[in-house]
Amino acid sequence: MHTPEKLLLENKAWSSEITQKNPEFFTALAAEQKPDFLWIGCSDSRVPAETVVNARPGEIFVHRNIANQVITTDFNCLSVLQYAIEVLKVKHVIVCGHYGCGGVKAALQPQRSNLVITNKWLLHIKDIYRLHQDELESIDPAKKLNRFIELNIVEQVYRLAHTSIIQSAWQKGHHPSIHGWVYGLEDGLISELIKLDHNTQIHPIYRYID
Ligand code: CO
Repeated sequence: MHTPEKLLLENKAWSSEITQKNPEFFTALAAEQKPDFLWIGCSDSRVPAETVVNARPGEIFVHRNIANQVITTDFNCLSVLQYAIEVLKVKHVIVCGHYGCGGVKAALQPQRSNLVITNKWLLHIKDIYRLHQDELESIDPAKKLNRFIELNIVEQVYRLAHTSIIQSAWQKGHHPSIHGWVYGLEDGLISELIKLDHNTQIHPIYRYID
């Protein structure tokens, strides 16, 4: 898989294989999408959303960025979230990070001059480090990165719960649950770290009043 031409050839083969098995597959999907899941994942090429959960086209609405961040002034992520909740009415929002995440690893390093834009993105992750500094600096240094990766995922789940988009849905009787998952690059397995639902108590300073 080293040239774009190869990708296009693979695409033709993929399309014809699906069409042979189910001639209606693409025409049915073209009419509408009804995914039950919004996936917010890392851009890392080793964690492709649909592949790791064996999903088919139409099943997962996807947003990916470096280190699976939900930044509450990021209109890209928020637009995806709003559309997924308000229009697609997804039942679950999944933040899936992964062990060995290069973005989280980079956030543990000083800012590099060749990555002035990326540094600003990583500052959000550094803030999560500062929030959990006592724990992260007291554990076995060999476990620090993976624990930070887990904490980063959990924080994104809380950030989602703090958005007006999620709280408004919960108040209106649409009850998407929010899951924090971590994927293991070494075994291909996913574990759940946290799950929040509409019964979650939101701290008053984050509460959305409709
Ligand atoms: Co990553």
